[in-house]
Amino acid sequence: GRRPRVLSGIQPTADSFHLGNYLGALRHWVALQDTHDAFYCVVDLHALTLEWVPEQLRARTRIAAAQLLAIGLDPSRCTLFIQSHVPEHTELAWIFGCLTGYGEASRMTQFKDKASRSEHVGVGLFTYPILQAADIALYHADLVPVGEDQRQHLELTRNLTQRFNARFGPTFTVPEPYIVGETRKIADLQHPTAKMSKSLPEAGTLYLLDEPRRLAKKIRSAVTDSGTEIRADEVNKPGITNLLRIFSALTGRDIAQLEDDYAGKGYGTFKSDLADVVVEFVVPIQERVRRYLDDPDTLDAVLTEGADRARAVAAETMETVRDRVGF
Ligand code: ADP
Ligand code: NA
Repeated sequence: GRRPRVLSGIQPTADSFHLGNYLGALRHWVALQDTHDAFYCVVDLHALTLEWVPEQLRARTRIAAAQLLAIGLDPSRCTLFIQSHVPEHTELAWIFGCLTGYGEASRMTQFKDKASRSEHVGVGLFTYPILQAADIALYHADLVPVGEDQRQHLELTRNLTQRFNARFGPTFTVPEPYIVGETRKIADLQHPTAKMSKSLPEAGTLYLLDEPRRLAKKIRSAVTDSGTEIRADEVNKPGITNLLRIFSALTGRDIAQLEDDYAGKGYGTFKSDLADVVVEFVVPIQERVRRYLDDPDTLDAVLTEGADRARAVAAETMETVRDRVGF
């Protein structure tokens, strides 16, 4: 039969993805290309939910796409596109918004969290999960890779697709959550009990596009405990444990093996080897990103083709939807 369809998106809200994004999400996107019918989008409409600068957004969207290609997304094995290139997303979001209860939308906890941290809170931040539901439903995605933090939004998508189907006739696939790999987050290097995030100071965040020297410095300065043993111990040694996890994920060597290999060696040697591993990992990615950014025609062609493929599916869905709702 046909491969299950997955859909996933990432916001172009930073100048670079970080290693947490890669290990927690993007490396799974790469793997899913060969087992699933994968649709991936850079969700620039979502990036308008917090304050933005137009030229910066435009640049970040291209850098995001270039990084996705550079880490191994292959347009011949997946559909990669920019959300705003497919206007059907906003049309379906409007219709879904009219089917969403105000109370139902108000229960989304991520809104409260993000709103409390922002000065300007737009209605778009409030209705964001409805746009996310449209992103997924438009493509009849069977599966959506989600972390714990997105579970509630996927539940809204399930409710909206079921509600639409019940009211207007079977139209949408009701998606299932898909938990990919390790669900534990990569931690910030300066605050090893917090997740690595672009919203934390940059000294603790390993960006894929950081200069190699900068990455090495961040790793050397990573916060560890006052002991000397390279050993995974989440409670007493969160810093070293996080570094072991990164080392293991990037080399495929398991943590027990690394503990053996580094028995009797100090944090300095371990950090220096990890810096080499990280730099070796990012250098070819950075080279490929540079090549895409230096050749805008090729990048445009890839994104135009992705948008065409996405739009063919989205337009067909909307043809049915428009008829069902009475347009
Ligand atoms: P950030 O926290 O830097 O704002 P996003 O929230 O934009 O990152 O996350 C984009 C994707 O990367 C999501 O799928 C998210 O689960 C994953 N992700 C983000 N930070 C981490 C992390 N520290 N460890 C693992 N996965 C992460
Ligand atoms: Na975030």
